[in-house]
Amino acid sequence: MPPTSPFADTFLRSGKVRDLYAVGEDRLLLVASDRLSAFDVVLPTPIPDKGRVLTGVSRFWFEKTADLVPNHLVGVAPEDIPGGGPGAGGGPVEAAAADELRGRMMLCRRVEPLPIEVIVRGYLAGSGWKDYGRTGAVCGIPLPSGLRESDRLPEPLFTPSTKAEEGHDENISIDEAAELVGRDVVERVAHLAIALYRRGAEIAEPAGVILADTKFEFGIDPATGELLLIDEVMTPDSSRFWDAADYAPGRSQASFDKQYVRDWLETQAWDKTPPGPELPADVVSGTRARYVEAFERITGASFQRYLDDDTIGAST
Ligand SMILES: Nc1ncnc2c1ncn2[C@@H]1O[C@H](COP(=O)(O)OP(=O)(O)O)[C@@H](O)[C@H]1O
Ligand SMILES: [Mg+2]
Repeated sequence: MPPTSPFADTFLRSGKVRDLYAVGEDRLLLVASDRLSAFDVVLPTPIPDKGRVLTGVSRFWFEKTADLVPNHLVGVAPEDIPGGGPGAGGGPVEAAAADELRGRMMLCRRVEPLPIEVIVRGYLAGSGWKDYGRTGAVCGIPLPSGLRESDRLPEPLFTPSTKAEEGHDENISIDEAAELVGRDVVERVAHLAIALYRRGAEIAEPAGVILADTKFEFGIDPATGELLLIDEVMTPDSSRFWDAADYAPGRSQASFDKQYVRDWLETQAWDKTPPGPELPADVVSGTRARYVEAFERITGASFQRYLDDDTIGAST
């Protein structure tokens, strides 16, 4: 895994899925790998091109939402990296490394991320459903009684959480979020996040994909003070996508992208602690097909075409 040779000296860190590199003083290179995490464990077997699905979907949304909020994206091709690459001496990225980056990289403005996760929920699932069961509210927002698991909410809700370095993020009230980032900033991101979610749901639903909930991140550009949408946007990794054809409230819903691999994992004698089991070839190809289908339904574009021409959708 990272750091790979041309970027070793500028490698910052690896998330579960993405690798981060500094480019100069004010740019960040985000590279989405093919790693898949299930039940919070990164599996040893990659899903080919999953990272390209994530990046392609994010790029699509950055373009579709640029009128709502400025974002961090400044380049999508290895050629966009200043000096040809972040390696020592600024030499051109080696051809093999450039090919590996194509379709999975985002060159971004490097900002100060806000220390909250900006979550929007359109449906009652996951920790929102748990909170509701305990308190009748989500993040302190009271909801009508009698809602079922996976029910559509009367209005999409902004439900912030902490950004835990270790362990799990915790849902917090809007007042607690205001203590972390300031009241005016919370109000701005809440308003933007709901507008972004509505835009996403409006585009995904006619394609048979329910965007049940999603997590945004925002940051402040230290040079300009501007508030930017950062990170990945409305991808399978940052969202709950459901297949509209299978949707039925009153139970949990299958994940559009991960259910195939989760179902297989449930058949294994595995205690859900690392390391996870190697995936057999048919589970890899079945899972890849679901990611590709999510890409194609959401963007309305051919994934093969995206692989062949990574400049598609580069015009942000
Ligand atoms: N433009 C940006 N400037 C600074 N940090 C960013 C920017 N975009 C994303 N990030 C940060 O990059 C990190 C991605 O790492 P992480 O979430 O751990 O990766 P993964 O989601 O792949 O597991 C997050 O902490 C996010 O806040
Ligand atoms: Mg993340």
